Amino acid sequence: MNAPIGVIDSGVGGLTVAKQIMTLLPNETIYYIGDTARCPYGPRPRHEVRNFTWQMAKALEKKGIKLLVIACNTATAVALNSLQKYFSVPVIGVVNAGARAAIKETKRHEVAVLATKGTIESGAYEEALASLYSSTHIVPLACPTFVPLVESGEYKGEFARKLIQEGLKPLQQQSFDTVILGCTHYPILQNYIEEAVGPEVTVLSSAEETAKEVEGLLRYRGELATQASTHQFFATGSVPIFRAIAEDWLAQGHLAIERITLK
Ligand code: SIN
Repeated sequence: MNAPIGVIDSGVGGLTVAKQIMTLLPNETIYYIGDTARCPYGPRPRHEVRNFTWQMAKALEKKGIKLLVIACNTATAVALNSLQKYFSVPVIGVVNAGARAAIKETKRHEVAVLATKGTIESGAYEEALASLYSSTHIVPLACPTFVPLVESGEYKGEFARKLIQEGLKPLQQQSFDTVILGCTHYPILQNYIEEAVGPEVTVLSSAEETAKEVEGLLRYRGELATQASTHQFFATGSVPIFRAIAEDWLAQGHLAIERITLK
C-alpha cells in the first residue's frame, strides 16, 4: 500500500502531473522517469515511442510500483492500450483525463487541442472528445517548438513569449472557448499560452483530472498510502538540467535525482 506510484514521461513534462498527484495525495511516494536523452517523442515513429515507453515502465516495475501513470500524451496515444493489457500493475494515461476536463469546461463545445505532432496525428483527442460529446468542434494544432523550449530550461522570458505567440498564430481565425494542453510539458508555458489566446478562453491541462483518477483507482483497490517516503527521480539525460527544471517547477530543493540507462 505504501509502494510508490510510477510516473513516466519523455522528459520533464510529466512533472506537471506528478505535482498534482503530490498535492492531492501527500501520503504517496512518486518514482518518476524522464527520458530526457531521447526527448522529444512527438516527432518519433509510433513503434519507437511504444518501445521507449515500455522500457520506462519495465524499469519502474523492477522498483516495485503499485500503479503506473503515463504522464506523456504522445506515449499515452501509442502505448496505453498495450500497457493496460500486458503490464503487471494498473496503468493510467493522460488523454482521457484531458478530454474530460475540456468537456466539463467548454460552453460552446469548441475545443482547441495543442499537442505534439505525434499526438495530433494519432487522433487520440478527437476520439476521446467525441466519446464524451460527439458533436464537439475540435481545432487541433501541433506545436513542435514547445517541448524543446521547455527541455532547454529557457521557458521564461521574452524569447519564450515570442516563440509561443508564433506557434499559436494558426489559431487566430479559429473559434473555440477552451484549450486543452494536450502535452504535459505545456502547463509549464501556461501563462504565455493564456496571454496568446486571450482572456475569453479557458486553458486547461489533464494534470488535475489525472490525479483524481489516480486517487479514485487507489481508493477502489484499497491501496492509498498512509505515509510518503522520499520521491525518486530518474533521468536518462543530464541530471543538472533535470534538477534545475524539476526543483523550479515543484518548488522543492534537494530532490533525489539519478541518471538511469534504459534498454
Ligand atoms: C514529447 O516528448 O514530444 C512530448 C510529450 C507529450 O506529448 O506529453
